[in-house]
Amino acid sequence: MALWGGRFSDAPADAVFALSRSVHFDWRLAPYDLRSSLAHLRVLQSSSLLKSDVAQKIEAGLRELILEVASGKFLPNSEDEDVHSALERGLTEKIGEVGGSLRAGRSRNDQVATDLKLFAIDHMLDIANQITHLQEALIAKASEYSDAPAPGFTHMQHAQPILFGHEIAKHIHAFARDIDRITDWLTRTSVSPLGSGALAGSGLGLAPEVTARDLGFTGSSANSIDGVSDRDFVAEALFIISMVGVHLSRIGEEWCIWATSEFGWAKVADAYSTGSSIMPQKKNPDVAELARGKAGRLIGNLTGVLAMLKGLPFAYNRDLQEDKEPLFDSIDTLRLVLPAVTGMVATTTFDRGKMAAAAPQGFSLATEVADFLVRAGVPFAQAHEASLTSDVHNSLTVAGAIASRKTIGATGGAALAKQLSDAAAETKATQVKISAQINAFSEMMSQ
Ligand code: ARG
Repeated sequence: MALWGGRFSDAPADAVFALSRSVHFDWRLAPYDLRSSLAHLRVLQSSSLLKSDVAQKIEAGLRELILEVASGKFLPNSEDEDVHSALERGLTEKIGEVGGSLRAGRSRNDQVATDLKLFAIDHMLDIANQITHLQEALIAKASEYSDAPAPGFTHMQHAQPILFGHEIAKHIHAFARDIDRITDWLTRTSVSPLGSGALAGSGLGLAPEVTARDLGFTGSSANSIDGVSDRDFVAEALFIISMVGVHLSRIGEEWCIWATSEFGWAKVADAYSTGSSIMPQKKNPDVAELARGKAGRLIGNLTGVLAMLKGLPFAYNRDLQEDKEPLFDSIDTLRLVLPAVTGMVATTTFDRGKMAAAAPQGFSLATEVADFLVRAGVPFAQAHEASLTSDVHNSLTVAGAIASRKTIGATGGAALAKQLSDAAAETKATQVKISAQINAFSEMMSQ
């Protein structure tokens, strides 16, 4: 059912309908659309634009639809254009023509922006929560290897010995920044576009700040044109997801290298590996490879949306319908990759003997010699030279080199233990905060 047939004498050509239709992907906005319809209904009711018996009828219809959408009993049909038209059809089928009264003071333009924001908030919270589980797996793995010496690298060359737990632990902090980004994003995204109407605001005196509060937003759009046109929250969410994807990809690359027979450090669990159809001996780190590969797709979704927004006139243009598939795809992709990488990290074991044997190789103790000479008063430039020519470094040990690094963030055992216990406490605190936000969101959705 189209919502706009009035001035047209012909229905759209099949090709036009096929091109402009979005219900096959935007149907997943249905629960958010219904919830924002309830908020809109309340504001219509409180401004006495709807008779109370009509309002009650509409509310009962919406509540029935909420259940039927959740159970899959109500579905879009082949004539529905988008989620909004499908749900309006559903409502009028249930309660008759009065269902159309909900359209007063609202446009699909502010409606779709609101629905997509609610969807994005709901899913970004879930992603933040999933990231904390990966952090837990990294903390556990880092603790398991917090006494295992290994070579550390720069330029993929042996540089200085480190504790392998320190190597694993670095990833925890990248994901902590990603969660920070989600938290910042939530603050900025918490502005409701509902009430912006088509672009000029509501002429019926409906209070946008009231629907905003009802939907859990902190405020409503300060400019109705911006309200319906702003998709910064989509682009920013896609950037955050891409950044998480890049972090996962770097884990993937590391795992692939460590699992080679040349390195032979990582033993990836069978459940997180795959075999080859032709070479029976093969065990491939496909999870790590897909983590690396999917990052490309996430970055593609981000650049696609930025390109769509660039130069787009104000206010609403149909181009904006192209914001949804990339966002849905990035969210779905990340929610596939995160648990798989979490499981891979949790179940991989590392060969302590091989890592320890490699730790002193490649003159990796040369810095210790230079540091030793500096402590004895030799200028660093001379010490640097002497360290490679002298055989003094043979008398230095990997354990000594590691233990001497005691400052915040360093690889020494005590510094690493503190890093890991701080990270564990921070992750717990983040989990508590996020689950409170998740609960508040689902509480809002159920009202
Ligand atoms: N399906 C549309 C979208 O996703 C909904 C808004 C349509 N608005 C309009 N003026 N045609 O953007």
